Amino acid sequence: MSALLGVDAVTKVFGGVRAVDGCSLEVAEGSVTALVGPNGSGKTTLFNIITGYLGADGGRVTFAGRDVTGRDPGRLYRDGLSRTFQQARVFPQLSVLENLVVAAGYGWTRLFTPRVGRADRERADELLDEFRLAPVADLLAAELSYGQRKLLEFAAVLMSSPRLVLLDEPTAGVNPVMIETMERHIRSRNAAGITFLIVEHDMTFVMRLCDPVIVLDAGRQIFSGRPDEVQNNPLVLDAYLGG
Ligand SMILES: Nc1ncnc2c1ncn2[C@@H]1O[C@H](COP(=O)(O)OP(=O)(O)OP(=O)(O)O)[C@@H](O)[C@H]1O
Ligand SMILES: [Mg+2]
Repeated sequence: MSALLGVDAVTKVFGGVRAVDGCSLEVAEGSVTALVGPNGSGKTTLFNIITGYLGADGGRVTFAGRDVTGRDPGRLYRDGLSRTFQQARVFPQLSVLENLVVAAGYGWTRLFTPRVGRADRERADELLDEFRLAPVADLLAAELSYGQRKLLEFAAVLMSSPRLVLLDEPTAGVNPVMIETMERHIRSRNAAGITFLIVEHDMTFVMRLCDPVIVLDAGRQIFSGRPDEVQNNPLVLDAYLGG
């Protein structure tokens, strides 16, 4: 498998904190790659840089063979790189269906055009069925449970036909049934060709689903390998135990 995403010596400093410190890593096309590490190790900051929400102080990001360093989130999204957020971001005052339609890649104006494209509408309907959100399609997103909002955010990301999806803690604060649902959707979308990079603290979820597992500590990669190798790696144990 070749690298779909490349992070090369990326650095981000906040005041005196080197949140990301010369970090390099690769995500192979077709993989479900995990990005784990202790709290504050730079995972979300790195996601923000990869997806264009934050400028880096140094280094390079490549996607599908192109240098995309500093490219804005909207453009990356249209180019097939999309993400979810650690705190699910949906439009609370739009319905579930409307959230999907605006995610089709055209933004707000899409809602007010005389014809929401039939293709977008069909795609939204398919996703509503697939994610079992059809019964709540007309509810405001604000009325959903936290787990349902995370599911909706994931479904919305799929409206853009992404090649690479970054998920920031997809299972955090979500009940066990919803975690299984999330896992099922990741597997089926991966089988359909989508590559995933997943930040996740739930190690049993990571071990079941992800290969390879990349471990960050203090803003840089300290390990990358198979899930069964990660658990006994001394560097990883040190990082987690504060050694
Ligand atoms: N906007 C910011 N301003 C100042 N410091 C920040 C900012 N964002 C992150 N940091 C700091 O950068 C470091 C990395 O934070 P980051 O949120 O990337 O970690 P994380 O690995 O996602 O942690 P968690 O597992 O808790 O979500 C932390 O020390 C954090 O306090
Ligand atoms: Mg984080």
